[in-house]
Amino acid sequence: MSLAEQLAVSFRNEFQAEPLLICSPGRVNLIGEHTDYNEGFVLPAAIDKAIYMAVGPREDNELHFIAFDIKKRFTGSLNNLTPNHSWADYLLGVVTQLRLTGHSLRGFNCVFGGTIPMGAGLSSSAALENAVGFALNELFSLGLERLELVKLSQRAENDFVGAKVGIMDMFASMMGKAGHVIKLDCRSLDYTYPPLRMDGIRIVLCDSRVKHSLVTSEYNTRRAECEAGVRFLQTLYPDVNSLRDVTMEMLDKHLRDTQPLIYRRCAYVVQENQRLLDGVAALEAGDVAAFGQYMYGSHEGLSQWYEVSCPELDLLVGIAREQPGVLGSRMMGGGFGGCTINLVREDELDSFSQTITQQYKAKTGKDTYLHICNIQDGTHIMQTSVSAA
Ligand code: GLA
Repeated sequence: MSLAEQLAVSFRNEFQAEPLLICSPGRVNLIGEHTDYNEGFVLPAAIDKAIYMAVGPREDNELHFIAFDIKKRFTGSLNNLTPNHSWADYLLGVVTQLRLTGHSLRGFNCVFGGTIPMGAGLSSSAALENAVGFALNELFSLGLERLELVKLSQRAENDFVGAKVGIMDMFASMMGKAGHVIKLDCRSLDYTYPPLRMDGIRIVLCDSRVKHSLVTSEYNTRRAECEAGVRFLQTLYPDVNSLRDVTMEMLDKHLRDTQPLIYRRCAYVVQENQRLLDGVAALEAGDVAAFGQYMYGSHEGLSQWYEVSCPELDLLVGIAREQPGVLGSRMMGGGFGGCTINLVREDELDSFSQTITQQYKAKTGKDTYLHICNIQDGTHIMQTSVSAA
């Protein structure tokens, strides 16, 4: 029985009703890292690892949530929406944001589980937030557009959960399209779906199995460093609103010698945006090898200039780079652990997998887990609700 079916069975047993079933995917990002909160570009896609949710309305104001995978339960009420400091906050945050936007809700029941590996940086929290927002929009006919749901999830994460993340993860999970990446301009929120012309090439994630506690504090520090660069340049160029408006010439002239740390952070972001634009052009021309080179450039920038990598991620990229059939490799997501993303030729996949597993184990004592990702549609209904028999 699939996980979605198991969730539906569990829901029927618990709540004696037929659920609405939602699938809400995790994401990868091909290039454009730490650019979303700098009003830059990102190139993510929704993948076939997802949060699944069985959900149905209640007649009262109660909230009954079951986290199927960890066998935990939360019971609360719409009348008392405060952080619970647990997984329930991802759901409560979305409910709170809906209420703040003036939507009237009733209580609801839900059972959810997932196939997104935890702590691997594949955005299970964004997928969960999107799942519940999407579900409530359906259940209570709120009439919200997908983009509004994306913004709602981001506010839930920023204001209720307390993680000051950008918009990429929610956007990718909600707006994904099978077989395509999303080129998102995080300033205007304009987006296109360049087709992925990568026949015979697979997207492979290598999980470092490392999650440094640094990730949250360093993420906030990087944001602050970029903001400091922008604030300084604004005194000279009043039209600058974000690093999107900044050029390497401006950085070289005003920051390189006087504020070397801020210079490196800002220069990474300005260059990463350019790598993304050049990379998309290469992909559109079907030149995956050229795209792969931009991925290596991205990793080097993240590791040396933005300093959000770690020895394990650098090692995984270093091993991958030496393997036949690997076109590109880089750390993915916030950094300090999680996965690398690799473009690997299908006919070399087995030897890639064996070599990287063995060498990583030999050098770190850790196992790496490999995940092959297919690109799928964003958050969607799997089966419409029918009356309980
Ligand atoms: C995390 C955040 C995203 C983005 C990436 C880095 O995944 O949730 O908003 O900033 O880091 O690109």
